[in-house]
Amino acid sequence: MKYILGVDLGTSSTKTVLFDQSGRQVCEATRAYPLYQPHNGWAEQDPEDWYRAGIETIREVMERSGVSPEDVTGLGISGQMHGLVLLDEAGSVLRRSIIWMDQRTAAECEEITQRVGAKRLIDITCNPALTGFTACKILWVRRHEPELFARCRHILLPKDYLRYRLTGVFATEVSDASGMQLLDVPNRRWSQEVLDALDIDEAMLPKVFESPDVTGYITAEVAKLTGLSTRTAVVGGAGDNAAAAVGTGVVRDGRAFTTIGTSGVVFAHTDRMALDAQGRVHTFCCAVPGAWHVMGVVQAAGLSLQWLRNNFYPDDAHYALINRDVAGTPIGADRLIYLPYLMGERTPHLDADCRGSFVGLTARHTRKEMARAVMEGVTCALNDCMNVLRGMGVSPAQMVACGGGAKSPLWRQMLADMYGCPVCTAAKENSAALGAAILAAVGTGLYPSVPEACDAILSYGEPLAPDAARTEAYGRVYRVYTMLYPALKDVFRELKTI
Ligand code: XUL
Repeated sequence: MKYILGVDLGTSSTKTVLFDQSGRQVCEATRAYPLYQPHNGWAEQDPEDWYRAGIETIREVMERSGVSPEDVTGLGISGQMHGLVLLDEAGSVLRRSIIWMDQRTAAECEEITQRVGAKRLIDITCNPALTGFTACKILWVRRHEPELFARCRHILLPKDYLRYRLTGVFATEVSDASGMQLLDVPNRRWSQEVLDALDIDEAMLPKVFESPDVTGYITAEVAKLTGLSTRTAVVGGAGDNAAAAVGTGVVRDGRAFTTIGTSGVVFAHTDRMALDAQGRVHTFCCAVPGAWHVMGVVQAAGLSLQWLRNNFYPDDAHYALINRDVAGTPIGADRLIYLPYLMGERTPHLDADCRGSFVGLTARHTRKEMARAVMEGVTCALNDCMNVLRGMGVSPAQMVACGGGAKSPLWRQMLADMYGCPVCTAAKENSAALGAAILAAVGTGLYPSVPEACDAILSYGEPLAPDAARTEAYGRVYRVYTMLYPALKDVFRELKTI
């Protein structure tokens, strides 16, 4: 029996999972680390913490499983995307990483749009300049910390820094590189045009691979620290959503997943490049060589329900009472609509200033209707993402639901009814780590291709079918929902003056 490792380098922790070659989970280990927020809107992490968490979790699963190092053919890393790691000539970290959540770079985004041109930027990188992405973070450091930046020789993403420490190799892969805003996404290589416009030296960037490609091998030092072998290959791996797509089998046209975590993601695979001219959804290279994915992001999905719970159901630790109240309240929440813009919104509005709202509140309403309105409002926001994808000609026939919110059968049924398409769950947990491990299995020859590995390894729960009458009723809720953002847009802007 051969084994594969998936390392999921997340924002709150790193989780490492050892799977056997059939995808059965053998052992998992997690290490948490801090997030530093030195100013409002800033978010940083220490790359040394990621390295330590990586080493410790790998060592723990190797020790606890008792698996022979020679039988672990490969390791794949899934990573939080967009974070900036800067290294000097000797490969030492120059400053804390500025991570994906950080919002300090509005001025640099304007500069990028102006230097590259708004249309060229979307044509090449498939996205408008976004504060979360990496390029604007590079410009910020160059402007605000010029002496430090003058010593920079290598620019890496979070998971690619861990790869560097595990293998000594400077490498990335197309899915994560897509989130740097320096990649020519249609052609899957660094964009000389964007690099020239931003005056960034390509020599600082790592070599770009496809996700299942072998990028290097475990060094002797790391082998000693972890119990792995120097013959264990490290493959490209993927950004967290691209890895989760592999771990849920979203690797062919017609497949898609919806995650309801803190944020919400609607992610669809596409074999041909699909681009939204307004940049309302992200188009990235996916972990299947030669294919892409399109992805809409709802900033406050699970976060909305968590906010409701904390303020109106403080003792409902597992959301059981909320689910019961929502189930006992009819569709439309007695004409109460919720907009989930607690953290501004990415898809479809790209507006950092819009805010959460209840519209239609009367003296009759109780927390039950508010709970129903929150769940419906988040589902409407996810449906907004779905509709942008549909408008691009990407129409999933089946949806896999994942993340904490998808544990609620009620919420899954609401998704099926709102989307008007069947919704199922993935049978296996830890989809990002599993996806990274599947990439390692393919890269080390255990399976011929990513889709074939997914067919052999993954299975699904019984899908929930949409109900035509409920789809029609939700249609009426959604119609009013979509009228609210345009009506309130100026109000949100004015609100800032108070
Ligand atoms: C993707 C994104 C998140 C981060 C953190 O654009 O911002 O998925 O990778 O999870």
